[in-house]
Amino acid sequence: MNHPSAPHQPISSELAEAMEFLRSVPVFADIEALELGKIVRVGVRKKYKKGTIILLEEETGAALFVIISGKVKIVRTDEDGREVILSILGENDFFGEMSILDGLSRSASVIAITKTELFMIHRRDFLKLMQDVPSVAIALLKEMTLRIRKADAQIKSLSLKDATGRVANVILQLADDIGTIRKGRVEIDELPLQQDLANMAGTSRETISRVIHSFIKKGLVEMRGNKLIIIDYDKFKSLFA
Ligand code: CMP
Repeated sequence: MNHPSAPHQPISSELAEAMEFLRSVPVFADIEALELGKIVRVGVRKKYKKGTIILLEEETGAALFVIISGKVKIVRTDEDGREVILSILGENDFFGEMSILDGLSRSASVIAITKTELFMIHRRDFLKLMQDVPSVAIALLKEMTLRIRKADAQIKSLSLKDATGRVANVILQLADDIGTIRKGRVEIDELPLQQDLANMAGTSRETISRVIHSFIKKGLVEMRGNKLIIIDYDKFKSLFA
């Protein structure tokens, strides 16, 4: 049997709560309680207000972050300050692994889009953990593979599809990142601004508006305020993926 901490060292409720949270994060799901206890002790919880820049592209990377609550956007910007959202991450997702692994600078900026709480683990602690616990490295690779698959789908969409297909693809990407599925419908609660959608789809705001209206007319999606609903996710996906 595994014990979460050494004998005579009672675990506080805060520690127990942090361990329970980390267990729900796929990368840490298979770690023994003793190891998990060590991570919780070396990690730091941090809170960020909506809009805070958590990581800046080109900075040196010194830590990995797991999202306890909230949402962040992963963005790249050009010289004129225009930005494109690469992905939106939420609860239980992690970021900051790339520069920890290759020792290069941060590959993108990370910005809190809601109030966000993170669990931060220093580079050397995370690298040691990967060496000691192979299941962490495997889970990390699995998630990174998934991200390459998504990036491949984005490249295909941007290179080969027309504007309608590219907008549909951005909607599918957001459904995957932040959507909630209920009885075949997917709800995207906080649709990004039209300019953000335009940058993601490599098109203009006007085109985003026109294409979303054509989807509404065809009965494929519904808009309620800032919420976009894909009425039949499987059908939408089969039409555009
Ligand atoms: P890092 O380069 O250290 O800092 C920025 C982080 O953004 C990066 O690690 C990844 O965790 C994350 N990131 C970069 N590109 C993507 C992407 N295409 N999808 C999801 N996350 C990404």
